[in-house]
Amino acid sequence: MNPTPTTTPLLAVEHLVKHFGKGRNQATAVNDVGFELHDGGSLGIVGESGSGKTTTARMIIGLEQPSGGRILFRGQDRTQPARTVRELRERGRNIQIVFQDPYTSLDRRQRVGDCLAEVIGVHFRLDREETKRRVRELGELVGLDDRQLGALPKALSGGQRQRVAIARALAAEPEILILDEAVSALDVSIQAQILNLLSDIREERGVSYLFISHDLAVIRQVCDDTIVMRHGAVVEQGATAEVLDRPQHPYTRLLRDSVPREGWNPAIGIARS
Ligand SMILES: Nc1ncnc2c1ncn2[C@@H]1O[C@H](COP(=O)(O)OP(=O)(O)OP(=O)(O)O)[C@@H](O)[C@H]1O
Ligand SMILES: [Mg+2]
Repeated sequence: MNPTPTTTPLLAVEHLVKHFGKGRNQATAVNDVGFELHDGGSLGIVGESGSGKTTTARMIIGLEQPSGGRILFRGQDRTQPARTVRELRERGRNIQIVFQDPYTSLDRRQRVGDCLAEVIGVHFRLDREETKRRVRELGELVGLDDRQLGALPKALSGGQRQRVAIARALAAEPEILILDEAVSALDVSIQAQILNLLSDIREERGVSYLFISHDLAVIRQVCDDTIVMRHGAVVEQGATAEVLDRPQHPYTRLLRDSVPREGWNPAIGIARS
């Protein structure tokens, strides 16, 4: 029972903890992390490599079991076992993730359109014609034409593959889309296209974003609110402009002041020509 449904956040993460390993080898990847994401909102997670961003995301989508804390989706605790098959299916649908390198997660022998149709088939009961229409619609939404929908992943560019990954995530009609360094490997101009695409989708579909990135310029462009993680913990959070322009924590200042030049990819750590 929920007495105040209008104020329940879409996603609330409370005191989330993740340990890896046992005994003396135990390491804490995520240490008491908490934040909220609201309907139509966009939350950035920044932090140095190894600060626990991906681990947090993996717990939210259920790929990793938390050692402690709660993950509430519309007030329902996803760290507890689902009570019905329907609830389990919904959990698998309403939060989707896009990773940095879509090629590794795409089936190399499957045509892009078939891949999207497969996801639609898992989540919705549509006949062949309706499925086809939906695949086209998704293609249109992310900027893939019929020829590209009929292609194998290897025939596509990095930017096009990332569009496929986004379309595949959206095929499930999620309420939350997690993007984990989803544009980091792309050229600056392609990156800008994908970021514009994401803001259009946010407006059109009302999807909320959890946006993980090393790139503060990207975070600034996409996220209303931002949290800064360090050594598994949140060291700062607030409105993106506040956090980036008037950082309270010395670590945030350090992150901001070490923002690399354009053409420098911090995820890879080498300059691109
Ligand atoms: N499956 C695992 N087993 C053991 N340790 C792990 C595992 N996954 C992550 N870790 C450790 O947890 C810590 C946080 O890793 P995580 O991948 O969440 O960092 P991140 O913030 O996403 O870093 P990056 O920016 O490099 O992607 C790291 O020290 C990592 O080595
Ligand atoms: Mg990561």
